[in-house]
Amino acid sequence: MRVLFIGSQESRNLFQSAIAGHGEITSEKNADLCVIEIAEASTLFRLPKKFSVPTFFYITKKDRQLLDALTDFKISGIFFPPLKPEEVVKKMFSGKVQTSTANGSEFDTLKAKIIAKAENIPPLPALARELVRLTRNDKTKIKDFVDQIKKDQGLSSRIIKLVNSPFYGVRQEISSIDRATVLLGLNTVKNLALAVSTESFYNKNFSLLKTTGQKIWQHGFAVARLCEAIAKLVGEDEDALYLAGLMHDMGKTVIVDFLVKEAVTIEDERNQLGTDHCAVGELVLTKWAVVKSIAESVRYHHQLGKDTFSRVLYFANQMHKNIDDTEALEDTISDCALALGLPLEKLHEAVDPVLDSEKADNDIS
Ligand SMILES: [Fe+2]
Ligand SMILES: [Fe+2]
Repeated sequence: MRVLFIGSQESRNLFQSAIAGHGEITSEKNADLCVIEIAEASTLFRLPKKFSVPTFFYITKKDRQLLDALTDFKISGIFFPPLKPEEVVKKMFSGKVQTSTANGSEFDTLKAKIIAKAENIPPLPALARELVRLTRNDKTKIKDFVDQIKKDQGLSSRIIKLVNSPFYGVRQEISSIDRATVLLGLNTVKNLALAVSTESFYNKNFSLLKTTGQKIWQHGFAVARLCEAIAKLVGEDEDALYLAGLMHDMGKTVIVDFLVKEAVTIEDERNQLGTDHCAVGELVLTKWAVVKSIAESVRYHHQLGKDTFSRVLYFANQMHKNIDDTEALEDTISDCALALGLPLEKLHEAVDPVLDSEKADNDIS
């Protein structure tokens, strides 16, 4: 594989050693892939918006104007320093090296089947549907729903178990929904009920995605709380972002039924199915009549979008994915602060409680 590199000699050498054994850097225009180093926003304005070969940007200087301008470009991926060879190889070559299991027309049939399955996904439980419809300020209605939650033994005991986790920081053990409501507020109990009522969708085998239903749900629940915490800082709708976080990987519950071999990255999903869990997630949420901003942010949760709402989801997801890699996590938090125009300490204050509680959970299990 020949890769055209446009940028400094130093960066060129870094890419050359990162892709050694998989490809070589060339100066020829007719290369298979292209990497362009972007050290300042003005470089971007000289570039075309579309490229004839798959093109990657290597961003060596981060500023907000630059990140905002990026979304106008049709590119295959972005790299930031420090470059990690495995990541570079995976992003640049995974789609090319692997042979697809399906050709164009097979993809169309498969895609039609996946869409049909997404459209026929069981409806959200009635209570969850009502919770989704609730608006933040409708306190009386929320009170009615909490009363309903209390009547459901299974749901109540699951919520009580969750409120006693370190994240909520309550000193005395909570043993009733009433007590949880007093200590944590109606809204928190409402959101916990929502989280618990989506758990059953993940009751299947996810080994081809190299994970478990419990892990995907736990990840969604953590991303939901991160979204909620960041939403407060940027003045976005906390409830809507909580829901987006909770449901963002819902598409995995559909696509897993169509995979024939392991799929670890979304490129793997696209290679096998011609679609991915993001696009399918949007279909499911649209089917469930969830508001458009949520469904759209789910569709684009693996790429940095332009609007604040979808950026919050993107970064919340990245933060939780990087939770075990201190350096990568710190980078993600500072990128998030930059992209959303937030002071870094404020963002830390908001997300650290969620991340710390998740780390504590990881250590136990
Ligand atoms: Fe995802
Ligand atoms: Fe995710």
